[in-house]
Amino acid sequence: MNHWDKFLAPYKQAVEELKIKLKGMRGQFELDSSHSPIEFVTGRVKPIASILDKASQKGIALDQLEEMQDIAGLRMMCQFVDDIHTVVNLLRNRNDFEIVEERDYISHKKTSGYRSYHVVIRYPVQTIHGEKKILAEIQIRTLAMNFWATIEHSLNYKYKGMFPADIHMRLKRAAEAAFRLDEEMSLIRGEIQEAQAFFTRKKELKQEEKN
Ligand code: GTP
Ligand code: MG
Repeated sequence: MNHWDKFLAPYKQAVEELKIKLKGMRGQFELDSSHSPIEFVTGRVKPIASILDKASQKGIALDQLEEMQDIAGLRMMCQFVDDIHTVVNLLRNRNDFEIVEERDYISHKKTSGYRSYHVVIRYPVQTIHGEKKILAEIQIRTLAMNFWATIEHSLNYKYKGMFPADIHMRLKRAAEAAFRLDEEMSLIRGEIQEAQAFFTRKKELKQEEKN
């Protein structure tokens, strides 16, 4: 087995476990028939090329890659900005990992226009050689924040951060539009949730009829 496979194995394990655990939180809200603050969850292990790029950019030695916080990365998408705070509190109350850092790019958005709430955790992976604790980064954001970040990330990839002026301006405007979308949705949140609860109940009744 090569060196990378060995190094990445606990990260892969952690991402798979955390995906199940965080998706499980969503399932529990469904059982309670209450609005889930979690819309969906994704996870990935950082590709080797990106790990190497970041290490050289940040001056991280190759024998200190454990310091990198986002080799294991999870994302939790929410419908409403307030849901993000509910999710962060749920994470704080768990005892299967320890929170080592929180970065609030919602109250303090990045100059790029990026908004998200980042929680860095130390997560214990059980291995045949004993417990190994790894760092993982959980990004919690609304669907609108995720839409913007995904688009900006692809453009960043294409232009390597050197956006032409018009693209730069459009991205700024898109970030503002995403922000306003979140605000508007928050204002009609009650209305939306009533409708969602109504349709969930209707689906449940149909299912009961079938059984
Ligand atoms: P990194 O060197 O990227 O880890 O920066 P950092 O250590 O200051 O961490 P930070 O919390 O700022 O962000 C890390 C992650 O957040 C990145 O890997 C991206 O997933 C996301 N992110 C941060 N800034 C931006 C941005 O401007 N645009 C997009 N699309 N994503 C961002
Ligand atoms: Mg980071």
